[in-house]
Amino acid sequence: MSLMDKHAIIEKNATILLIGSLLVVTVGGIVEIAPLFYLENTIEKVEGMRPYSPLELAGRDIYVREGCYVCHSQMIRPFRDEVERYGHYSLAAESMYDHPFQWGSKRTGPDLARVGDRYSNAWHVQHLEEPRSVVPESIMPSYAFLKNTQLDVKDFSTHLVANARVGVPYTQEMIDNAQADLLAQANPDADTTGVEARYPKAKLGDFDGNPQALTEMDALIAYLQMLGTLVDFKTYDEAKNAR
Ligand code: HEC
Repeated sequence: MSLMDKHAIIEKNATILLIGSLLVVTVGGIVEIAPLFYLENTIEKVEGMRPYSPLELAGRDIYVREGCYVCHSQMIRPFRDEVERYGHYSLAAESMYDHPFQWGSKRTGPDLARVGDRYSNAWHVQHLEEPRSVVPESIMPSYAFLKNTQLDVKDFSTHLVANARVGVPYTQEMIDNAQADLLAQANPDADTTGVEARYPKAKLGDFDGNPQALTEMDALIAYLQMLGTLVDFKTYDEAKNAR
């Protein structure tokens, strides 16, 4: 029997054809998808990336809860207009600890992937309280209530445990110190050596202009102020060009 004749059997028999197709698709699918489960192979290692500090993580939870992602993306695409406006295009590694990721597909407001350090804390407070007081044509809603809402820090270490379960490399030491680190990062009078050692480049101090209270505004601004600031792109680009 020639090869053509053999193939004719498959082509004339719907069941065999279906099973054969399924087999081919399965093998192809496994070859494409399986390597992606091993993130170390897929995501370029980048100097400076670390898991979120507990206060940043709390701020990120508020960002997700309030649906900021509905109007803001966190992904700078590698196009000239985007890079000139927002800064270096986003790297996969920059969102590898995001569960869920905040890339977004809609920009009613600007991309926030590198908003950290762009404004002062006081600017953020005023902008979140009343966006039109700093950007008159803004259509962003007011989030003034965040300043009057005590941050819920009860059992905060469980947030780190949950992230660790899905692959974020929080150590036992980070989990044990979660509560203390969260409080220390937002307290201008606290000893911050522990937070700084565990979370390099974490922004410290009072964020909402009221050092007496730890509010949701504190956490959200701590998060906004670190966005896009972990990777040093001067050394990143130099290393890339040297390769
Ligand atoms: C209805 C859409 C909408 C929502 C929801 C929204 N924003 Fe905005 N945001 C905007 C628009 C439009 C601008 C641009 C005008 C301005 O600066 O207010 C903006 C600007 C900003 C800026 C300044 C960015 C820059 O580079 O100048 C920050 C920071 C920001 N938003 C944070 C947030 C946070 C945090 C939340 C959630 C608590 C949020 N936004 C929710 C629409 C939105």
